[in-house]
Amino acid sequence: MATDVGGSRTQAGRATWGSKIAFILAAAGSAVGLGNIWGFPTVAGQNGGAAFLLVYLGGVAFIGAPVMLAELILGRRTLRNPVGAFKALAPRSAWVMVGGLGVLTGVVILSFYTVIAGWTLAYILKTITGTFGAGADTAAIFADVAGNPVAAIGWHLAFMIITIAVVFGGVRDGIERWTKVLMPLLAVLLVLLAIRAVTLPGAGAGLEFYFKPDFSKVTGGVVLAAIGQAFFSLSLGMGAMITYGSYVSKKDDLVSSAAWVTAFDTSIAILAGLIIFPTLFYAGLEPGVGGAGMVFVVLTSLFGSIPPEPYGGVIFGTGFFLLLAIAALTSSVSLLEVTVAWLTDERKVPRHRAAIMLGGLAFLIAVPSALANGAVGWLSSLPVVGLDFLTFLFTIFGQYALVIGALFISLFVGWVWGISAAGEEVRVNDGKFPLGRTWAFLIRFVCPVAIVLILGQLIYSLIG
Ligand code: PFF
Repeated sequence: MATDVGGSRTQAGRATWGSKIAFILAAAGSAVGLGNIWGFPTVAGQNGGAAFLLVYLGGVAFIGAPVMLAELILGRRTLRNPVGAFKALAPRSAWVMVGGLGVLTGVVILSFYTVIAGWTLAYILKTITGTFGAGADTAAIFADVAGNPVAAIGWHLAFMIITIAVVFGGVRDGIERWTKVLMPLLAVLLVLLAIRAVTLPGAGAGLEFYFKPDFSKVTGGVVLAAIGQAFFSLSLGMGAMITYGSYVSKKDDLVSSAAWVTAFDTSIAILAGLIIFPTLFYAGLEPGVGGAGMVFVVLTSLFGSIPPEPYGGVIFGTGFFLLLAIAALTSSVSLLEVTVAWLTDERKVPRHRAAIMLGGLAFLIAVPSALANGAVGWLSSLPVVGLDFLTFLFTIFGQYALVIGALFISLFVGWVWGISAAGEEVRVNDGKFPLGRTWAFLIRFVCPVAIVLILGQLIYSLIG
């Protein structure tokens, strides 16, 4: 059994990853998801392309990476889920609510995330069977999947069942086993698709938009959009990295692991842009189209004409949706794992039962999101807020809750639990802490200030 020693526990009885690489792949699997392959090009396209890319890289390095390390430290120190981690380090205090917010956020993000992931399953089938030939009415096809209640809920259920099945296997035989296969496959698919995209006629204009910065486009809003995107993309702010960190062996080095996961996630987002922008410019489209329309309606409308015809589009399209589904699966698994770790650690519910209960709960919560893309009118455009229900949930939980969570995590580690205790955990077993002082400065000052600014901007954009 794991035992408490001043918040630090022995590892006996706690599942651990089989190796450092296994952990890096699993954590990268959590980070790399819809947020990279579709979110990143969407936000970059709407915020100036190359200039956004540079600001994003800064946000990842100075704000994302330090919070990533802070979460991993909290997890490995306490060997617990987010709620348990705060309970162990700050017993009988309100800090446990930060963990509680993380678990709640996990269930809600899982709910709408698997709705979109369900569409990708439907689209793998559609592309493989040649639905997107020349002249296909892609908007009508999308309405047929996302706007049809039976299809939307059915595909969503299928995706949730796959997610539960992976989590069922546990840390090593489920998550680790699957991410070890899926992540390399995803990397290969991405590179192949990027090669196809950058060699399309007219791709050069897309590359210019993506890599030639126009600094007049950098505004406060662009900076904040970049940092918000970085949190979602790196799976920060809700304790996913606390949970995955709790399975890291005390022998493994946390700083280099955090650096690898961050670099992996960022490289994949950049590669995704290399697929999306040349393809959009090839079609003579605006880089700012973004969102569900961009992926399911615009990209698919190109499949009919991607050389070599008629199979180019089928191969490109099937590869693309397979990629999206794999990326989404390793992320949805981590979302469910956070909540399952909470129930198994804190309430001693067996893993299988916890996975079914929480996956089932997320499935039910998702029903309105599944019906919010045309199936039910008022859910597709909510009164007052004007957003569809899925986008509304994303705004509250995928943006606000993560940003608030990251703020409290950096305050807790930087000022309450303390930099020196965190440093001790990094150095356990002779671990090195390069840039320790820089990290301390970033987590104490830079991260909280930047996050407060983002929150201000988010609230301003909501009421403004
Ligand atoms: N990082 C995932 C993505 O980019 O799609 C989404 C995500 C997964 C966010 C897990 C938060 C999380 F805890």
